[in-house]
Amino acid sequence: MANQIEALNAQFALADQLRFQTGENGLPRVQITNRLATAEVYLHGGHITAFQPQGSEPVLWMSPLAQFQHDKAIRGGVPIIWPWFGPHAIDKHKPQHGFARTMEWRVSATKALPDGSTQLQLQLNDTPVTHALWPHAFELSLSITVGTELNIELTSRNTGEKTFTAGGALHSYFAVGDVRKIHIDGLLGRHYIDQLDGNRIKQQSDAVYIREEVDRIYFDTEDTCTEGICAIFDAQLLRQIYIKRNGSHSTVVWNPWKDKARAMTDFPDDGYQQMVCIETANAVDDVRHLAPGETHTLSQIIGL
Ligand code: BG6
Repeated sequence: MANQIEALNAQFALADQLRFQTGENGLPRVQITNRLATAEVYLHGGHITAFQPQGSEPVLWMSPLAQFQHDKAIRGGVPIIWPWFGPHAIDKHKPQHGFARTMEWRVSATKALPDGSTQLQLQLNDTPVTHALWPHAFELSLSITVGTELNIELTSRNTGEKTFTAGGALHSYFAVGDVRKIHIDGLLGRHYIDQLDGNRIKQQSDAVYIREEVDRIYFDTEDTCTEGICAIFDAQLLRQIYIKRNGSHSTVVWNPWKDKARAMTDFPDDGYQQMVCIETANAVDDVRHLAPGETHTLSQIIGL
């Protein structure tokens, strides 16, 4: 491990901005600090576990009980969901939300940008392990830019010889003061699949308030993305988090509330009060069919 960290620092460290270090449970972690913000990224899952603009509170919620293990997804931050969203369509034994969040990603580049932000690029390619779960050749590139905003771009590319279909999500966990005192704008009038009510299709008739367990997939939300109007208004922390998205027509809103929180070993019983997930997704019919050589980019910019 010490050797791996040393080798990564020798090749990719950026003076005063980006260092590799041994993170929780010995997993390699990237620490980014510049004059605009700080962030942390684990190579396990290509997982952003912290983002904090200078002078602000953390934007992302991390579970204090998160498990940092090779075969598990980290709870909180921004899990990378790919190549399917939710349970596998046919085989329930395959991992929920795909495999990208439990694989170790490779560093491909780091860059100090002229505006003071820092960029980290990671990659994941198919291996015999991924072929056993999903029989396709692919290259996934993840570009993470840390500045006053956090810019995440996930590009999937078909490197094989037949078309594949992939879904996914940037499964962001946002930190809020008290989830009962927030509202989410940008989804008014949209239709959604209520995953807690037999997948019934419903229509959002107001801003989104979280007063109970919520697990919804909003569809046809691409215009809310490009106009950047999806936002969390937090009356307790007195702040607004905005999310601008591209390459996504579906948006997932999730809060496990009391019972589900209690049932999860990596989630504190009362943790549901300080978080909400708003996921920039390619879910349900919003999957992408990529012919050989084609690419698709799912991206999200988060800011205060
Ligand atoms: C959301 C799903 O995206 O992720 C929920 O809509 C799910 O149904 C949640 O419970 C968390 O999933 P996981 O696999 O990280 O526990």
